[in-house]
Amino acid sequence: MFTSTDLISTSYSSPSPAAKIFARHKVVAMPPVMDRWQCNHTASDVRFIRNDEWIRREAVGSQGDPARFSMLDRAGIEKYAPGILDWEDWILRLAREVTGMDLILSPWYRSSVNVRKYVGDDTEGRHLDTQPLAALLFLQQGAPLRVECEEGTVDIESIPGRIVLMKGDELIHSVPPGPTDFYSCRIGVCFNLYTTDNTARPAYIDKMLYENMSYEDATR
Ligand SMILES: [Fe+2]
Repeated sequence: MFTSTDLISTSYSSPSPAAKIFARHKVVAMPPVMDRWQCNHTASDVRFIRNDEWIRREAVGSQGDPARFSMLDRAGIEKYAPGILDWEDWILRLAREVTGMDLILSPWYRSSVNVRKYVGDDTEGRHLDTQPLAALLFLQQGAPLRVECEEGTVDIESIPGRIVLMKGDELIHSVPPGPTDFYSCRIGVCFNLYTTDNTARPAYIDKMLYENMSYEDATR
């Protein structure tokens, strides 16, 4: 039976098992490679940012499902948790190595690196991304990442320090409602990576994300 264990790479031996998993499934969950203390430290910095400093999304997503979560865009990260940006180049190198893709950092300032927070029944419905690769780093455990692979649908636990590399433009994914406890809300960082020949970002995406528009209104 296909389970999330099939997507978890457990070692760095060569040839990289992570690369093999990615080549086969278009998604791989790396072992918790970031330092646990650093993740906790960053998560607590982020957790106590005032509610009105977050960008709140509460609308209907591209597949008609609700999208309810809070975000910090790159400017918010620069202001409140700038240490996150120190990880960007390292994440890019890791992602290049594992995926073999000709990846570059996002040329789109605001969306290049975002923190996402899912508290209580926050959720994000089934959708595809527009950027060629998503690198997700979990800082605090809460709702899992649900990925619909060819072989079946799996929930990847949001274990702090874990990095998931995913072709989110090809695999439908979502965030189901998670635990309701304040301290177990999921906090994660999305690094949006592009390729040298694909840096397109349709305007409707940012209207949805940062102006809280529904998919229907944003694409009108
Ligand atoms: Fe996504």
